[in-house]
Amino acid sequence: MKALVFGAGGLVGQEAVRAFVADGWLVAGPPHGAADIADAGSVRAAFDAAGGIPDAVVNCAAASNVDACERDEAAAWRANALGPRILAAECVRRGVPSFVHVSTDYVFDRADETPEEPIGAADGAEFVAPANAYGRTKLAGELAVVAEFRRAAPGVRHSLVRTSRLFGAGRDTIADVVVRMRAADPGAALRFHSGEAEAATSARWLARAIVALASGATSGERGGVEHVVCATAPDERSKTAYVRTVLKIAAELGVIPPEAAGNVAEVGDDGTAMRGERAFRPRGSVLLPTAAFSNPPDWKDEMRDCLAGKFRVGVASSRTHCSDGGGAMA
Ligand SMILES: NC(=O)c1ccc[n+]([C@@H]2O[C@H](COP(=O)([O-])OP(=O)(O)OC[C@H]3O[C@@H](n4cnc5c(N)ncnc54)[C@H](OP(=O)(O)O)[C@@H]3O)[C@@H](O)[C@H]2O)c1
Repeated sequence: MKALVFGAGGLVGQEAVRAFVADGWLVAGPPHGAADIADAGSVRAAFDAAGGIPDAVVNCAAASNVDACERDEAAAWRANALGPRILAAECVRRGVPSFVHVSTDYVFDRADETPEEPIGAADGAEFVAPANAYGRTKLAGELAVVAEFRRAAPGVRHSLVRTSRLFGAGRDTIADVVVRMRAADPGAALRFHSGEAEAATSARWLARAIVALASGATSGERGGVEHVVCATAPDERSKTAYVRTVLKIAAELGVIPPEAAGNVAEVGDDGTAMRGERAFRPRGSVLLPTAAFSNPPDWKDEMRDCLAGKFRVGVASSRTHCSDGGGAMA
């Protein structure tokens, strides 16, 4: 089986390539410099170089920096909306059996009275309401994929995989940044906006889901929307609670001294206030896992392995990788 992974140099892309290889697939993962998903000629060349019709195509490429998307929505649109449309069209044209497109919880802004209530995949029409340029362009990407696949032959599937607050081995995320800060200076000031409730997710768990979807093991006959997140208790979902728990795990691992795990301040009332060039964040965008991924690992176990791998300390587990992303520090 052959997979063609776009965005293979990113956090999710690297993990997806590893997961496909571990599952016995042949993988082509052209880096951004070799394949621009927003350039139809470049995409065609990448397909041709990978043998024409792979068994699965995965889109992990994106403009993923939320604040950078806010500053340059046109650039974000190119990567997050135009690119997915071009990839989907090429998959449909060639009859690629399975296309997996990675998307985000930021297509939602749970700006109602229950921001911490998990959102099911079927709630899309009711709740979809992106709060910033990143979310708008990612939603446009989802809609473009669906539109292109309306023309697909029977047996040609597409999966839209929404996930949130990623962490993993491929690059540093907010989790690694705060641990490095406190390792260097146990008293370093940390302040986060309140709210921003999300489920934390390891790129490793997401990658396993991507391989399962590419293999056709899940999803409907023609594909559909999947929510893939790790188990995250209600009191662990706010940005501040997430950072506090990450630091606690780092202290337990001996990566930072015990006294470096405290003093994470919370500012603001709902985490959505625009401050300078910082994009609005959803108050809550907790995804309810879809049926095929309803038994996920606990994010804290995944984080423990992730930090142990990155900071090279022993951990009593066979797990290996991890990284987060998304939110910026206040
Ligand atoms: N990180 C999170 O917390 C999070 C949360 C929810 C959903 N997601 C979604 O997960 C997916 C992967 O995110 P990630 O965190 O892995 O992002 P990432 O680490 O920033 O990786 C994205 C990759 O895409 C590449 N890329 C950007 N524009 C491209 C283009 N036009 N053509 C080809 N490649 C391009 C980037 O290359 P350059 O570095 O050269 O630009 C980078 O290698 C995205 O769909 C994102 O929306 C992420």
